[in-house]
Amino acid sequence: MTERARHDRAVLELFPESATVEKGELAIGGRSAASLAEEFGTPLVVYCERTLRAQARAYRSAAPDALVIYGAKAFPNVALLRLFAEEGLGADVSTLGELRFALAAGVPGERLVVHGNNKSDEELRAAAGAAAGLVVLDAPDEVERAARAGVRRVLVRVTSGIEADTHDAIRTGHHGSKFGLPPDEAIAAIARAREARLEAAGLHVHVGSQLLDTQAARMTVEWLAAFAAECRAALGWTPAVVDVGGGLGVRHVEDERAPAVDEFVGELVARLEHAWDLHGLPRARLVLEPGRSLVGRAGMTLYRVGVVKVTREAAAWVAVDGGMSDNPRPQLYGARYTALLANRAGEERAGAYSVTGPHCEEEVVIRHVALPEPRRGDLLAVPATGAYTLAMASNYNVAPRPAAVLVADGRARLIRRRETLDDLLAREVDG
Ligand code: LLP
Repeated sequence: MTERARHDRAVLELFPESATVEKGELAIGGRSAASLAEEFGTPLVVYCERTLRAQARAYRSAAPDALVIYGAKAFPNVALLRLFAEEGLGADVSTLGELRFALAAGVPGERLVVHGNNKSDEELRAAAGAAAGLVVLDAPDEVERAARAGVRRVLVRVTSGIEADTHDAIRTGHHGSKFGLPPDEAIAAIARAREARLEAAGLHVHVGSQLLDTQAARMTVEWLAAFAAECRAALGWTPAVVDVGGGLGVRHVEDERAPAVDEFVGELVARLEHAWDLHGLPRARLVLEPGRSLVGRAGMTLYRVGVVKVTREAAAWVAVDGGMSDNPRPQLYGARYTALLANRAGEERAGAYSVTGPHCEEEVVIRHVALPEPRRGDLLAVPATGAYTLAMASNYNVAPRPAAVLVADGRARLIRRRETLDDLLAREVDG
């Protein structure tokens, strides 16, 4: 295989499962990028149904006895929530908005897990009203407030002190985290929950996000078994449910490696069972809360190329019609991405380009990506943008947020319409 063919294949692997390049044209779900851009405009986030379902099934088959719930924050979207519900998944929701979306998608109450480090009484009442299967208590005063709101079944979120190898903003298991309770307080919260006649069903941990190996997750479940044994000694109580959060990362660039779902979940389940047996604990129902690993690879963003500029410092800029308003991750976390010229994917690379957007600062969407010489009107496809992009999109510079489509078998279905300037202007109050 030539160097170029190897590179092309390495980039293509980052795209959804159904991605192909034929005659230089990138297609997803049997639809060419060009036809999608023409029909729906750009920027456009394209989700591949096959990849979404495959990821959901990978979770179900790696842990057949577990309840798998989609961490809706990765991309809260009614169509995707419905698709995952069809696959037997539930939803992890952490705001009234995410709860509303999950209910609109028909996610059954018993498969809803309600999170939040600062739940309002209104949120607790809404969780009770939706007959959510589990509410995860995250603060000492939530025990009594949840009971008063009519919540019945709860987990207590505990911090293990384990520091995941990931970006500071998405590391959540360490002591001092704003999430969860330190072990002593968690034990006290379980005791109080039982006094308050809540069903204290179990424990919750979430070590962090975008984990590219299994180490922190393995250590966390071992720690959790020891903590469950401590609960038994202190309270005569053991968890019937163990929710180990989400966290599995996805590859955004060629040189990144991430475990596959079956590898990550397989190791986690094996460790958990082993550790549970070592402590002689009764088996607990496992809950998994994947967000990014369900939707990250399934989504790609299409942008239209505008200005191509070689500046004084000999830096070649490619400006596209979106950027930090539809994907703030490079700015927020230093996230790296790569890209293909979707309409000229087979051509020889002409050099390294930096991709920027239209916003009023030196935003860099991608620093140095090898591309054929881009021309105005070309389409740039950025892989692995399905998670935490549209979810965190803004209207910076009054940019309407992009549309999202779901593609399969040559058909594309709009799953979120593009915002219009009229939508944005309608919220303005003048006089
Ligand atoms: N469960 C809980 C309690 C969480 O806080 C999260 C993510 C998940 C599950 C899903 O985690 P995942 O499988 O997606 O790693 N905006 C950041 C990511 C924030 C993650 C927040 N919590 C980013 O763009 O990287």
